[in-house]
Amino acid sequence: MTPLPVFILLLWICFCNSEDRLTPAKPLSIGDRLISNGGIFVLGFFSPRNSTANSYVGIWYHNIPERTYVWVANRDSPITGSSPGKFLVTNSSDLVLLDSKGSTLWTTRNNITTEAPGAAAILLDSGNLVIRLPNGTDIWQSFHHPTDTILPNMSLQLSNNNNLSTHLVAWRAPDDPSTSDYSLGGDSSLQILVWNRTRPYWRRAALDGVLVFAMYQSKSGPIMSQTIVNRGGEFYLTYTVSDGSASMRMVLHYTGMVKFLAWNSSSLSWDVFFERPGSSCDRYASCGPFGYCDATQAVATCKCLDGFEPVSLDFSLGCQRKKELNCGQGDSFITLLNMKTPDKFLYIRNRSFDKCAAECSRNCSCTAYAYANLSNLGMTVDQSRCLVWMGELVDTEKRGDGLGETLYLRIPSSSVSKKTGALKIALPVMASLLVLVCICLVWICKSRGKHQTKAPMNFAMSEQLGNSYELYDQNSEFLWINFNDIITATDGFSDSNVLGKGGFGIVYKGTLEGGKEVAVKRLTKYSDQGMEHFRNEAVLIAKLQHRNLVRLLGYCIHGAEKLLIYEYLPNKSLDYFLFDDAKRCMLDWPTRYSIIKGVARGLVYLHHDSRMTIIHRDLKASNILLDVEMRPKISDFGMARIFGDNQQQADTRHVVGTYGYMSPEYAMEGIFSVKSDTYSYGVLLLEIVSGLKISSRPYLMRDFPNLIDYAWNLLEEGKSGDFMDTVLLKSCSLRQVSLCIHIALLCVQDSPGARPLMSLVVSMLDNEAMPLTTPKQPLYFIGRRHEAEEATEDSVNSAGLTTLVGR
Ligand SMILES: *[C@@H]1O[C@H](CO)[C@@H](O)[C@H](O)[C@H]1NC(C)=O
Ligand SMILES: *[C@@H]1O[C@H](CO)[C@@H](O)[C@H](O)[C@H]1NC(C)=O
Ligand SMILES: *[C@@H]1O[C@H](CO)[C@@H](O)[C@H](O)[C@H]1NC(C)=O
Ligand SMILES: *[C@@H]1O[C@H](CO)[C@@H](O)[C@H](O)[C@H]1NC(C)=O
Ligand SMILES: *[C@@H]1O[C@H](CO)[C@@H](O)[C@H](O)[C@H]1NC(C)=O
Ligand SMILES: *[C@@H]1O[C@H](CO)[C@@H](O)[C@H](O)[C@H]1NC(C)=O
Ligand SMILES: *[C@@H]1O[C@H](CO)[C@@H](O)[C@H](O)[C@H]1NC(C)=O
Ligand SMILES: *[C@@H]1O[C@H](CO)[C@@H](O)[C@H](O)[C@H]1NC(C)=O
Ligand SMILES: *[C@@H]1O[C@H](CO)[C@@H](O)[C@H](O)[C@H]1NC(C)=O
Ligand SMILES: *[C@@H]1O[C@H](CO)[C@@H](O)[C@H](O)[C@H]1NC(C)=O
Ligand SMILES: *[C@@H]1O[C@H](CO)[C@@H](O)[C@H](O)[C@H]1NC(C)=O
Repeated sequence: MTPLPVFILLLWICFCNSEDRLTPAKPLSIGDRLISNGGIFVLGFFSPRNSTANSYVGIWYHNIPERTYVWVANRDSPITGSSPGKFLVTNSSDLVLLDSKGSTLWTTRNNITTEAPGAAAILLDSGNLVIRLPNGTDIWQSFHHPTDTILPNMSLQLSNNNNLSTHLVAWRAPDDPSTSDYSLGGDSSLQILVWNRTRPYWRRAALDGVLVFAMYQSKSGPIMSQTIVNRGGEFYLTYTVSDGSASMRMVLHYTGMVKFLAWNSSSLSWDVFFERPGSSCDRYASCGPFGYCDATQAVATCKCLDGFEPVSLDFSLGCQRKKELNCGQGDSFITLLNMKTPDKFLYIRNRSFDKCAAECSRNCSCTAYAYANLSNLGMTVDQSRCLVWMGELVDTEKRGDGLGETLYLRIPSSSVSKKTGALKIALPVMASLLVLVCICLVWICKSRGKHQTKAPMNFAMSEQLGNSYELYDQNSEFLWINFNDIITATDGFSDSNVLGKGGFGIVYKGTLEGGKEVAVKRLTKYSDQGMEHFRNEAVLIAKLQHRNLVRLLGYCIHGAEKLLIYEYLPNKSLDYFLFDDAKRCMLDWPTRYSIIKGVARGLVYLHHDSRMTIIHRDLKASNILLDVEMRPKISDFGMARIFGDNQQQADTRHVVGTYGYMSPEYAMEGIFSVKSDTYSYGVLLLEIVSGLKISSRPYLMRDFPNLIDYAWNLLEEGKSGDFMDTVLLKSCSLRQVSLCIHIALLCVQDSPGARPLMSLVVSMLDNEAMPLTTPKQPLYFIGRRHEAEEATEDSVNSAGLTTLVGR
């Protein structure tokens, strides 16, 4: 035969075999390909770019120009030379790769003894190659035998009752698919590690009950979410992506790094949107025993745990105790927040938190413990996850994203008192230093701000938001919801189902299959803010669980559509009742008082009690939703910001929010902190008590330019009763009303430092006898200042207080 007919013959075979399946009658030869039904993946023979001598059978993307292999059958036994091989399904339902001499290079071992002809190997659109019996049962799938890649919907078994779990093994080099020293898998005790041969190279913290971990390619890019699945006590790791998003994969790179990649069809390349280890500090045990990697710093650095000091300067030997433990004689435990749980723990089953703590404190050699409740993972028999450490603590980290766990560390008790003693001296010194530093920083920022478009603080925070987020769900119900289901639920977003309109989109009422009523927020398409808003909401609310916060049930991304699905609250929002002459009488004083308390509790949770500090930034009557029993739920976290542990305030050049509710320092300088929410809360309190809008036109309020001055003057004159909404006359307790006005005026003081923390506000509300400080007269009112800088104080020009900015 001349070469030409052979070539034509090959082409012809190619066409003829462009199917998605192999049968015993139809083997695959060099040049043939299987193409999945939807044309997404290809299976065939290939030779890596620089090693034409070896060929392999593998699967790669059909529609991606850059050849990317996601699976290789015979990675360690290549077809050598130019001798053609054959890939076929046998009569005994196994896949076999034969070389030219007919010897087996690679095979599956299904051990089906009864001949079952008719079995076929099918390449699915998910990238999974399955051996399917005629009756539809898949007896083997490549997803259960991964090489170095996890594709969406594939699950990696993390533990298998002392059996070796499934591991990913990296390629040896970019053009050498043979197995390298790096592998990734579960270590049978709740963790995922990357090993360099037998040495750990990187470790993911122990499972802590977090179900979903979402990652974002970029502000507008797709979302990939990692989920831990519990199937009968065995844990699996899987990834899902939103419908219609770009191709994504997780790969154990030949360098040993775990990378999440998404195909960017405009730059025609793979974008890395998440990789670990992220810094050298992030590598396994890089800070030595009792050292930790502080990832809250701009550059992650090694530090010693409290009570420890470095053994050597470079941390290679880790840290040692400054003072030995007394053992039993009054050792105590300190709380370290946001830590990555160290490695080498003992997993003690079936313990309550107290029993777990007792387990550690009674044994001298126990250095630390940590506790989590795994009920989210669907553990039924034993939900407790008590970890104790005997001896060294290695590979721990103070997480920069605020998502770590609380670690209880044993220290000798005397070091506590010593520390506080030292603190007493150090505090004044530090305070004065801090003031100096602040002054310098403000000065630097101001002079820099003139040249820079982005404040450094802002950048750091968007990084924090952008890279990774863990989404939480108490009831394992938090989910992706299919776009078509949402269309059905909302009657195709029909106008009759509109519940409200906000700056970021329209909210519809929907009824899911099974009759569950939900509120669907459809974010405005093409808005730049859309994705950020979406991310903020999805990430934040999903994590937060409090009876005074609205609950997110699921989300959906479909092309340009971004939807958030919430619990449906039949009673709409507070402003709907409060500012409507007919409806405001439905809010009697006990109801209003419980709303006042509920909102305060919700804010305390956001500011202090959740795992992060969250500033809402847009608290107002229309963002307080009411449930059937008129209990308040804070909603709309589209503008919320997350603070790290030590962060007290931040500034932004992009002031968003609602005038009237915005604190002076935020509206004028862009500085915000928990105290800006306190300010908004104060304004809200005045509205609830008076039934007047902060933005009411001034002349309605008898000569007083605004609601705050009005309240302040009445309180001064001891006539706070006059401030109250007249419909409350019958139901109110004058004592509680004046308490509320007093608290409100403390909250709206000009100086953020003078405003109480929300936790104090809750104490004041709960304990009516508590002595209160006298509020300072507020001089700045933002509606006025902003609109009429030059105008006289009582000018009518000072109206227009409700301007929305940045929406
Ligand atoms: C293949 O070899 C060429 C030249 O030797 C080199 O430039 C290229 O980087 C190699 N490609 C890979 C993937 O190693
Ligand atoms: C499979 O079985 C058929 C008949 O049952 C036989 O003709 C064929 O050679 C067998 N194929 C292989 C690969 O054993
Ligand atoms: C099939 O048998 C071989 C050797 O007898 C064994 O190594 C393999 O694990 C078996 N496969 C399955 C799926 O049981
Ligand atoms: C993953 O599985 C879901 C449900 O089985 C399916 O709708 C989705 O298309 C799959 N995604 C991929 C990328 O295969
Ligand atoms: C299909 O056939 C296999 C083997 O003959 C059997 O084990 C399996 O249960 C069958 N599955 C179904 C769904 O009938
Ligand atoms: C692995 O685990 C399975 C059950 O999950 C068990 O049947 C099998 O015998 C185990 N194999 C080994 C080698 O321990
Ligand atoms: C992996 O281990 C080998 C020695 O076994 C070492 O040479 C190499 O540097 C290690 N790789 C990394 C990334 O640390
Ligand atoms: C794709 O790449 C281009 C150019 O590098 C970049 O501007 C764009 O943001 C990327 N797309 C996504 C979704 O990340
Ligand atoms: C867990 O501990 C309790 C006592 O603390 C015991 O009654 C119960 O049987 C234990 N459960 C399991 C599954 O071991
Ligand atoms: C403390 O823990 C160590 C290590 O597990 C163990 O050997 C020792 O017996 C324990 N001591 C007590 C008093 O339980
Ligand atoms: C875990 O949390 C669930 C729900 O909050 C609770 O019912 C259960 O008792 C907790 N389990 C443990 C061991 O703390």
